[in-house]
Amino acid sequence: MKKIIIAIDGYSSTGKSTIAKRLAKELGYIYVDTGAMYRAVTLYAMNNDLYTDDLDREGLIERLDDVKVRFVFNDTLGYGETYLNDVNVEEAIRSMDVSNRVSAVAAISEVRKKLVKEQRAMGQEKGIVMDGRDVGTVVFPDAELKLFMTASPEIRATRRYKELLNKGQEVTFEEVLKNVTDRDYIDSHRKDSPLVRAKDAIVLDNSDMGKNEQFERIYNHAMRMIEKQ
Ligand code: DC
Repeated sequence: MKKIIIAIDGYSSTGKSTIAKRLAKELGYIYVDTGAMYRAVTLYAMNNDLYTDDLDREGLIERLDDVKVRFVFNDTLGYGETYLNDVNVEEAIRSMDVSNRVSAVAAISEVRKKLVKEQRAMGQEKGIVMDGRDVGTVVFPDAELKLFMTASPEIRATRRYKELLNKGQEVTFEEVLKNVTDRDYIDSHRKDSPLVRAKDAIVLDNSDMGKNEQFERIYNHAMRMIEKQ
């Protein structure tokens, strides 16, 4: 059976990566979390005095060649963990400090150009599930299956809040809600590759949908598309 490219885009904390990981596992495809790549570049800036209070845009652009992001498959987890210059940063990139800064970094065209090039290379052989904000519009405009996930900001913030509390991070619900809505605004209004639904994407509002129901729907779409090839 021919392999396809599955692009999953949408707002922050809509559960894209949970679904994408499960789908990739079920299909035997590679999973790529493009948000993790933008988060890793942000962490690099923070660790190198390029983003304390303000972002040193030019400084970061100058050092972009030094930023190496890759995924290393973890057998136990069943997906690739994010490495920044050979250090496992899978957990560090999920902090609120990174979440609060990542949208500004993701708005830099030079950063996008570098990461999109790497993302396209990862999808060369197809058989990939990639999630993000511009996968179906910019990275793979010809992807065979495109999904666009959405849910109300309050529901998304509640899910994220619980997740962060479980990880032991000290945050308030208001802080998380503000981060979710601020990021959505910046991601949707930036000049380069704003978050928009691809015209041919299937929209999935999961405000009132359980994880299994969501997965079934997406899996069925994927199988139909794969059988068509
Ligand atoms: O999916 P995430 O919440 O981990 O993504 C973090 C940020 O990265 C998000 O606020 C916007 C940016 N991003 C992007 O601009 N393009 C992508 N393809 C993926 C993420």
